[in-house]
Amino acid sequence: ELGGFPHFMLKEIFEQPETVRNAMRGRLDRDAATAKFGGLNLTPQQLRSIDRFVLTACGTSWHSALVGEYMIETLARVPVEVEYASELRYRNPPLTPTTLLFAITQSGETIDTLAALREMKRKGHPTMAICNVVGSTIAREADGGIYLHAGPEIGVASTKAYTSQCVVMALLALHFGRLHHLSYEAGLRIIDDLERLPSLVERALTTNAECRRIAGKYAGCENFLYLGRMYNFPTALEGALKLKEISYVHAEGYPAAEMKHGPIALVDENTPSVFIVPRCGVYDKVVANVEEIKARGGPVIAVVEEGDRDLAELADDVLEIPATADFLQPIVAAIPLQLLAYHIAVLRGCDVDKPRNLAKSVTVE
Ligand code: F6R
Repeated sequence: ELGGFPHFMLKEIFEQPETVRNAMRGRLDRDAATAKFGGLNLTPQQLRSIDRFVLTACGTSWHSALVGEYMIETLARVPVEVEYASELRYRNPPLTPTTLLFAITQSGETIDTLAALREMKRKGHPTMAICNVVGSTIAREADGGIYLHAGPEIGVASTKAYTSQCVVMALLALHFGRLHHLSYEAGLRIIDDLERLPSLVERALTTNAECRRIAGKYAGCENFLYLGRMYNFPTALEGALKLKEISYVHAEGYPAAEMKHGPIALVDENTPSVFIVPRCGVYDKVVANVEEIKARGGPVIAVVEEGDRDLAELADDVLEIPATADFLQPIVAAIPLQLLAYHIAVLRGCDVDKPRNLAKSVTVE
């Protein structure tokens, strides 16, 4: 059942070209230049009247919600709030009556996420589940939802479910964008970008050997920083979480510019910084952040777009990923970070698929 892979986690990382495709299968509508879903159970009038989204989740799924916030606010111009499920449940935030809740969960059994969903339902908000496990509690209790169709995820560290969640976020951004101001042409361009995505994920997987080499160089380090901006700020958080949960190495993710406000004090020759720096609007700013780390003697591993010579000169190690639209970069950029965490954990002799103290679904508060 491991199909020749030494661990489920690695198998699941390599399934991503297929799982990313499955997350969008049957959901791209070229005629209307939009994304469509079978199970939202709301009329177009109801969907159009939504004036606010709350995205709630835990852990890695919460990171996909952050990616969703950037996507939906940019493409659909509808305000989005992202809230840890454990906080949403008790915080009692003021919300408009036309706020729609999305609960994002791989397992569909996370107790905090379930409790947040129940609380929002109790208050009369429509609730949607974005879920991988078919027939799970959250999928059953929500008013409607979208399945990830990623297949069983066995490794405790979430990999393929995360990228599928991000794809579903992009589909939602397209859908709600097209309900509001997004043009037909813009919708078609997004569909083109989405259709190219599985092959780009495939190409990102070719970084595997390089990830293993870089892991060998830094596997003895006890602290890592992960830094990215905009769409790749959540990528930085997710990269750091992957590393800490499976290798027990301390890692922190930050928006790259925030490091000046504290974390830069951690930088020394034994604290690598992993930068996610695709060519985007803030490219020059991130390069400046890389220079600040280098000036303080910190090793830099940079995830860059293929052919980026500038960073190849500046960084100690580079991982090249294919270019894509800004809003899809987090999906491609997640791949080398998953692989890096995997190889560091293997080299440190950790039980990659069953890390200590963690369970695949967290059913206690
Ligand atoms: C990280 C991880 C956890 C889960 C979190 C939510 O790799 O596995 O952080 O993402 O416990 O789980 P689900 O998505 O099942 O609600």
